[in-house]
Amino acid sequence: MRSVAITNAKGGVGKSTTTINLAAALAELGKRVLIIDADPSGNATLGFFPRGVPKLGLADILLDGLAISDVALPSEMPELDVIPPGDRLGACSDQMGSSQGLGQGREFRVRRVLRSIQNYDAVIVDTSPVQTPLNVAILYAVGEVIIPIDPCVAALAGVRALEELIRAVSGFRQEFTDAGPLGVSGVLITRADRTLVSKQVEAEVRTYFGPLVYERSVPTSVKFREAYARGIPLMTYDRFCTGASAYRAAAAAFLESGLVVEGPGERASASL
Ligand SMILES: Nc1ncnc2c1ncn2[C@@H]1O[C@H](COP(=O)(O)OP(=O)(O)O)[C@@H](O)[C@H]1O
Ligand SMILES: [Mg+2]
Repeated sequence: MRSVAITNAKGGVGKSTTTINLAAALAELGKRVLIIDADPSGNATLGFFPRGVPKLGLADILLDGLAISDVALPSEMPELDVIPPGDRLGACSDQMGSSQGLGQGREFRVRRVLRSIQNYDAVIVDTSPVQTPLNVAILYAVGEVIIPIDPCVAALAGVRALEELIRAVSGFRQEFTDAGPLGVSGVLITRADRTLVSKQVEAEVRTYFGPLVYERSVPTSVKFREAYARGIPLMTYDRFCTGASAYRAAAAAFLESGLVVEGPGERASASL
């Protein structure tokens, strides 16, 4: 099972949109996919349940020991289930430790939950933009990280801090757990448009991350908002639009990146 956090310390870069549409594209390919919405604002969940975020969710697993199957909700796609954040996720995140998320083993709680998951080919975790203890705990738990980047001015500035965090967590994981190193397995350019700045920043990101950047960028399109407002992935809302096919290409790139030949305990292209 692949487990991946969709993360970037910036808000509005397309994390939740990527979670929804990458998951839907994988489900379309017949993969069993579980979305874990780990952002208390529930934006990924609203993309499937637009009338409101259901009360029970990840917080109830972490705080009360509920099972995945108690809180996972089926979406309209038979292969795709969603775990909402749960009403208490904000408070729960605060309880997970210091801002570094280290201490007293609490940071490993999410890891225990992920390890208990069966019956899915991929778990995609949507995260909040702020660097909360919960987000750090997620980095202790997942197998890989995908960073969506909106090619606007200073897009790389926050990403460098994120990379440092991933590097630190990766070091701790190797020292204190059997989780192995953590790395960025993919970078997805989102919300690309025809402006000069978009093109320049996209080129910068491609130079900086090299082959980790998915070949196809996701274009800016109003259809994302339209689909989101209706509570369906763009994949289903407008099957053949360019946004949908960009996420299909991202899903294919994601599956391909998992086929990279692994070295002794480490994937060369994915480790930092
Ligand atoms: N490729 C895109 N084109 C146009 N709008 C987009 C695109 N991707 C995301 N959006 C919109 O931008 C806003 C922020 O996206 P979101 O995925 O919620 O970002 P994040 O989770 O990083 O905060 C949402 O209203 C979403 O519908
Ligand atoms: Mg979001």
